[in-house]
Amino acid sequence: MPIEKIIVLEDDLIIRKNLEQQLRARRYDVAAAPTLAAAQEYLAKDTWDLVIADVRLPDGEATSLLRELQSRPTRPLVIMMSGYGSVESAVECMRGGAFDYLIKPFSNEQLEVCIQKAEDFTRLVKVNAYLNQEEDAETGYELLGHSPAMEQLRALLRKVARTQATVLIQGESGTGKELVARALHKQSPRAAAPFIKVNCAAVPENLIESEFFGHEKGAFTGAMNKREGRFELAHGGTILLDEVSEISPQVQAKLLRVLQERELERVGGNRTIKVDVRVLATTNRHLEQSVERKEFRQDLFFRLNVVPVHVPALRDRRADIPFLAEQFMHRFVRKHGVRVAGFSKECLAALAAHDWPGNVRELQNVIERAVILCGDGEPLGPDHLGLGGVVAPVTAAGTPSATDSAGAPAASGAQPGPDADGQFPTLGELEKRHIFAALARCNDNRTHAAKLLDISIRTLRNKLNEYAGKTGADTDGEGE
Ligand SMILES: Nc1ncnc2c1ncn2[C@@H]1O[C@H](COP(=O)(O)OP(=O)(O)OP(=O)(O)O)[C@@H](O)[C@H]1O
Ligand SMILES: [Mg+2]
Repeated sequence: MPIEKIIVLEDDLIIRKNLEQQLRARRYDVAAAPTLAAAQEYLAKDTWDLVIADVRLPDGEATSLLRELQSRPTRPLVIMMSGYGSVESAVECMRGGAFDYLIKPFSNEQLEVCIQKAEDFTRLVKVNAYLNQEEDAETGYELLGHSPAMEQLRALLRKVARTQATVLIQGESGTGKELVARALHKQSPRAAAPFIKVNCAAVPENLIESEFFGHEKGAFTGAMNKREGRFELAHGGTILLDEVSEISPQVQAKLLRVLQERELERVGGNRTIKVDVRVLATTNRHLEQSVERKEFRQDLFFRLNVVPVHVPALRDRRADIPFLAEQFMHRFVRKHGVRVAGFSKECLAALAAHDWPGNVRELQNVIERAVILCGDGEPLGPDHLGLGGVVAPVTAAGTPSATDSAGAPAASGAQPGPDADGQFPTLGELEKRHIFAALARCNDNRTHAAKLLDISIRTLRNKLNEYAGKTGADTDGEGE
């Protein structure tokens, strides 16, 4: 039962007792309040799932309580009861954020329907929150690292998060720009509102305008229905324009208008829509140079670059490497359900010496693979890292072998036909080598490797889990 605790706010003793009794009979935890002040007291002491409130009370109107509740990040649903039966007051309550309303006198059945709706809604909200949380855990939204550069970055984020300022986040690929954007949103007053990301590089050029601003029905071939754009979806919250350098001059002009006026029109529409959105943007190109080359509008650059944030490359904050490596090791040990005995000294030295062109993403991928390739309960060694451009070949047992790395053809990928030593690899073995070769080619970026192999990222993850000897991998076969 998603709803457990209910406040009944009603000054009429008979109605109040009656409601209390009914709700208790359904095993709800009920508090009865005859005045706004009494309800406030309950609200201050505990968290509640639902308030059923009469509109007029001896010490004021429940609409004021409703308004006040709206500013809280977590709040109970409110069902309003009105004895004055006017449609206007019901409409006003709904506008003010009420979940539903009941016109007095109402039957038990009407109350029941209303509460059932609230139950269904609360369940959805809870499932949704849970899913988001899972996503957070999966992608590890927390910005890790204690190097002076990271502490400085964190201090800057704390300051900027409070403001409405547009922020341009620059840095090499894999440094954590998206993570910085999410951290800004989470620390901002908009944290409870949506965070919407648009990957400007991934959306085809002819669709980006409608992705940003939405479209009306029939605006172009294929626009069967009207659709809200990402800016509208982000209303009240934050929008992240990921890889903003990739948008065409035509869309740049339209984006500039939204940034200046906070208003837009859908593609094929003529109604002006106002949006209240905080804009964050990332780029891994030097946007200043794109401006000099006239590929990116200077006025748009200035609008985006109100607060510049630079995320340093991993090689410029080497102090973070051992800590990050350790955190990632713990994460992937948990994820893949394997055991490893920490890092060997040589392994740490290899991590410290590497240049990390792919930054934190590369480190994360290297550690994940090392955890998978490492023997059960053994320490992670330099061979498991596969650094230096060549991926360690994988033996039939699923562990990389340092001894046969010299002559094994596996290092360069999966060659069909017999191996150099005359052995004929199995199809499964060949597939495994091919997968690791693809990962090496893609600098361990799984998304890219999955694309290269033309399989879904989930299939790739399942295969890697399989090689790690983990049972119970996702087996829904999506994207096969
Ligand atoms: N400081 C950090 N702490 C923990 N994880 C991090 C950190 N920085 C980056 N990561 C992880 O590294 C990966 C890459 O980060 P992110 O996607 O934010 O990089 P990016 O700068 O946006 O890269 P790109 O330019 O390629 O899009 C993510 O999985 C992210 O969780
Ligand atoms: Mg990114």
